[in-house]
Amino acid sequence: MRVALAQQLGGIGSVKLGELPDPVPAAGQALVRVHGAGVGPWDVGFLGGGFPGIALPFIPGQEVAGVVEAAGDGAGVQPGERVYAVLFPAGGGFAELALASAERLAPMPGRASFAEAAGLVIGGGTAYQGLVDRGRLRAGETVLITAAAGGVGSAAVQIAAALGARPLGVASPGNHDYLQGLGAGAVFDYHTADWVQQVRAAVPGGVDLLLDCAGGQTRDQAIGAVRDGGRMISIVLQDPPVQLERGITGESFAAHGGRERLEALSRLVDAGTLRPQVETVLPLDQAREALTRVAGRHTRGKIVLQIGQ
Ligand SMILES: NC(=O)c1ccc[n+]([C@@H]2O[C@H](COP(=O)([O-])OP(=O)(O)OC[C@H]3O[C@@H](n4cnc5c(N)ncnc54)[C@H](OP(=O)(O)O)[C@@H]3O)[C@@H](O)[C@H]2O)c1
Repeated sequence: MRVALAQQLGGIGSVKLGELPDPVPAAGQALVRVHGAGVGPWDVGFLGGGFPGIALPFIPGQEVAGVVEAAGDGAGVQPGERVYAVLFPAGGGFAELALASAERLAPMPGRASFAEAAGLVIGGGTAYQGLVDRGRLRAGETVLITAAAGGVGSAAVQIAAALGARPLGVASPGNHDYLQGLGAGAVFDYHTADWVQQVRAAVPGGVDLLLDCAGGQTRDQAIGAVRDGGRMISIVLQDPPVQLERGITGESFAAHGGRERLEALSRLVDAGTLRPQVETVLPLDQAREALTRVAGRHTRGKIVLQIGQ
């Protein structure tokens, strides 16, 4: 099978095209003929050595959509089924064939293309876990979402709106119309000095929940927009947030997606309330270009590799 792989973890430049023997599914695994592989900041992190203990050669790609080619004993899927799957942390998605654990795949949303489904796996799954499972977001509440135009944020804005909450986005000005089109009630530019005061003016008392997808200074400032006794959930694990005050509770978490969450995403997509956002689709032989774009940190929605179609 054709793959994009790194023999050593030396950054994006270490990714090369190559050939490897086709993998064989063990019990509980499906062999998926990959048609879409999402590209995310985590792929850049893996290639930079940010996740220790990774086996070499390393094939990036932690989220895929495709067609089941073969299944091991007890996998519970049949050849020909259209599925999407989380591969984290083993990777293997930038390839014509990938092994997926049966517990971490689900039937693709009927209304999504392979590229759309692949790009939803981690971004949508993390947004869902952050808002629903961790953030306990309820109808009528207000949630502020940083990096709202990115892969996680674009899904989070729509999922929050689907829950009956009021999502507010934080993004560069060029993304404001885009976010309002996804359902953001108001949008704020983190480059302006007084953007947190603008949130406070729009939501007297402060927002109920902050879903932080940006980290760093933007997150530390955004905490100032949370109401007394409100909640902060961050998905950026690299830098711990400032000390929380005013009774605000907070946590960071590493997403762990599985079949149940993928099924929840499929229901939202098929109901028309979650529209997967794909900025660019590139072929496998442009994997380095795709990774370089993601590393620039200004993706709108997702960048996805199209493979074998
Ligand atoms: N904990 C977990 O399990 C988990 C899961 C998934 C992702 N993550 C992490 O969460 C973060 C977001 O992931 P993602 O896939 O959504 O990333 P992404 O798609 O690359 O995010 C791109 C967005 O980040 C925004 N951005 C860049 N610099 C910013 C800044 N200084 N302040 C505010 N926003 C900024 C950009 O907004 P503008 O273009 O509008 O400026 C852009 O739309 C990444 O760090 C990723 O590694 C963690």
